[in-house]
Amino acid sequence: MAKIGLFYGTETGNTRKVGKMIAKEFGGDDVVKLHSTAKATAEDLAQYSSLIFGMPTLGDGEMENSFKAFMEK
Ligand SMILES: Cc1cc2nc3c(=O)[nH]c(=O)nc-3n(C[C@H](O)[C@H](O)[C@H](O)COP(=O)(O)O)c2cc1C
Repeated sequence: MAKIGLFYGTETGNTRKVGKMIAKEFGGDDVVKLHSTAKATAEDLAQYSSLIFGMPTLGDGEMENSFKAFMEK
C-alpha cells in the first residue's frame, strides 16, 4: 500500500495533473496515492504516514470548495 497520500482539490483539473506529476516523480501509484477531496474521507487520510495537500486559490485567494469542506471535516 502507498505510504504517501496526496489529497487534492480542483475546479478545472490542473491540480490533479500536478498531483499526478508529483506522484510520478516519487515513483508512481505504489508510493503516492491520489485522492480527490470531493470524494475522500477522514478514514482515507488516516491510513498514511505522510501527506501531501494541493489546491488552487480562487477569488481573493480562497481555498477551492471541496478542499475547504474536506479540511473542515
Ligand atoms: C474563478 C477563479 C478565481 C481564481 N482566483 C485566483 C486567485 O485569487 N489567486 C490565484 O493565484 N489564482 C486564482 N485563479 C487561478 C486558479 O488558481 C488556477 O486557474 C488554477 O490552476 C486552477 O486549478 P484547478 O484546475 O485545479 O481548479 C482563479 C481561477 C478561477 C477560475
